[in-house]
Amino acid sequence: MAEASQDKPDLTNGVPDNDLGDGAMLVGQVGGEAVLLARRGREIFAIGATCTHYGGPLGEGLIVEDTVRCPWHHACFSLRTGEALAAPALNATSCWRTERRDGRIFVGDRISEAGRQLPAKPRPTDGPRERMVIIGGGGAGNAAAEMLRRGGYAGGVTIISDDAAAPYDRPNLSKDYLAGTAPEEWIPLRPPEFYADNGIELRLGTTATAIDTARRHVMLGGGEELGFDKLLLATGAEPIRLQVPGADLPHVRTLRSLADSRDLIARARRGTHAVVVGASFIGLEAAAALRHRQVEVHVVAPEARPMERVLGPELGDFVRQLHESHGVVFHLGHTVGAIEAGRVRLDNGVPIDADLVVVGIGVRPRIHLAQQAGLAIDRGVLVNEYLETSAQDFRRRRHRPLARRLQRRAAAHRALGRCRAARPDRGAQHARPARALRRRAVLLEPALRRVDRLRRPCQCMGRDCRGRRSECPRRSAARPPGRSHPGRRDDLPRPREPIGGGRHGTRPVAVGSRKGSAGAH
Ligand SMILES: Cc1cc2nc3c(=O)[nH]c(=O)nc-3n(C[C@H](O)[C@H](O)[C@H](O)COP(=O)(O)OP(=O)(O)OC[C@H]3O[C@@H](n4cnc5c(N)ncnc54)[C@H](O)[C@@H]3O)c2cc1C
Ligand code: FES
Repeated sequence: MAEASQDKPDLTNGVPDNDLGDGAMLVGQVGGEAVLLARRGREIFAIGATCTHYGGPLGEGLIVEDTVRCPWHHACFSLRTGEALAAPALNATSCWRTERRDGRIFVGDRISEAGRQLPAKPRPTDGPRERMVIIGGGGAGNAAAEMLRRGGYAGGVTIISDDAAAPYDRPNLSKDYLAGTAPEEWIPLRPPEFYADNGIELRLGTTATAIDTARRHVMLGGGEELGFDKLLLATGAEPIRLQVPGADLPHVRTLRSLADSRDLIARARRGTHAVVVGASFIGLEAAAALRHRQVEVHVVAPEARPMERVLGPELGDFVRQLHESHGVVFHLGHTVGAIEAGRVRLDNGVPIDADLVVVGIGVRPRIHLAQQAGLAIDRGVLVNEYLETSAQDFRRRRHRPLARRLQRRAAAHRALGRCRAARPDRGAQHARPARALRRRAVLLEPALRRVDRLRRPCQCMGRDCRGRRSECPRRSAARPPGRSHPGRRDDLPRPREPIGGGRHGTRPVAVGSRKGSAGAH
């Protein structure tokens, strides 16, 4: 439970209605616990103000419709229920009742506690079962499997991970865990029984070596093949290696996995001399954690100031001074020339004692599998707005016009929003564009209504059509002659719609699905 300072208003005593504008947030407390009060239109919400991931202040986050985004790593929480809707947070925050009385807003009883895990929806046992295979047991793979179950996905879910450990909290590996201030029990994302309880098959220590998109098979190390209906690539990133003489010596390490962090802990003894190569997040976090273990730490990096590219010169200087005050020695403006047993030689020939070298010079996406499978790549895997890769089949192409219509729906809604914003008090020059935008949105309305109808879940409960009314074979069998879809006459003029390709965006997100949109189910 997050404690709140007592100078925050006690929300059980109420706050003036006017203090909370539409879309605004206010942080108060209830019984010493920080509570976030938020308004959206006439609705008022009260949820815990502390993110269940790493305690980020939700009051400094962003409200998007009826959700709030954490300012630290962008976890998304429902304002209505406190549920964690998007990773990296997995557990819900608390939720309270609110009441409006006599021009004031009061927070009442607690509806639900923070930290609860939302149960998976019961899965039907009959009917054909499809299988979703997730390659990668990091935060993304784990969250995807969990969300599938929470959303009531009935098929089989298998996570393939070449890591020997069940999904864990990777960010902690360079922080409290490495420093020795967080026990290892904190590291797993979920307890072992979670996966069996939720019907998630975890195949640890298993490498996916190739994907056959035509046969829908994943080849596993050892020669086994695993069939799938949908495939999610969540293979994350791998550390970039140093390319200097001696970089493959055993005391030269990177930090990506739990095994790496355990290895560094085993090597870090009081009086050890460590050289950290790289002065960005991981390098500096490792430097700080090793100093906490009384290791002598030298940081080598080519830039003039640590993290200058990210934070700018002033904060770069501040970061340097902070680390120096804890005993870190910087060698900035230099690179490593060579590594020898017990020593690192800089590019200017200066030697530094080192019985441990930690390389933190960045990561690159793990796209080998996607490349081998022939997916479109541009420094990462190219995906469209549904995170679908270029591995497309008939179903995928059929969805493209739908995707375009949905985009136009969003555009129309934005247009309507702009119409509302273009009021007389905002100046007469807005009036004409506002009228034009409203006319465009009204013209689009019939098409938008039809998209909504198509997206409605099918009455056959997903047995034949996988949930989409528009694709149900039963419905097409029942279509009267001359109509391509029940309820629509082909001889009537159709609303004007854009035809054609959902082009692939350039977001390097390594997620793929061979059969339609994973998000559609
Ligand atoms: C030490 C450290 C500290 C960090 N600190 C922060 C932080 O403070 N804040 C922050 O926002 N981010 C931080 N990050 C980054 C963050 O951890 C990553 O963004 C996040 O882990 C990405 O999650 P992911 O699931 O996409 O990929 P990953 O976590 O990389 O997981 C991918 C998984 O897929 C597995 N895999 C890959 N290929 C195959 C294959 N062919 N077969 C089977 N399995 C495969 C990998 O072994 C891995 O387990 C940190 C990262 C590290 C390493
Ligand atoms: S602390 Fe909120 S998302 Fe990480």
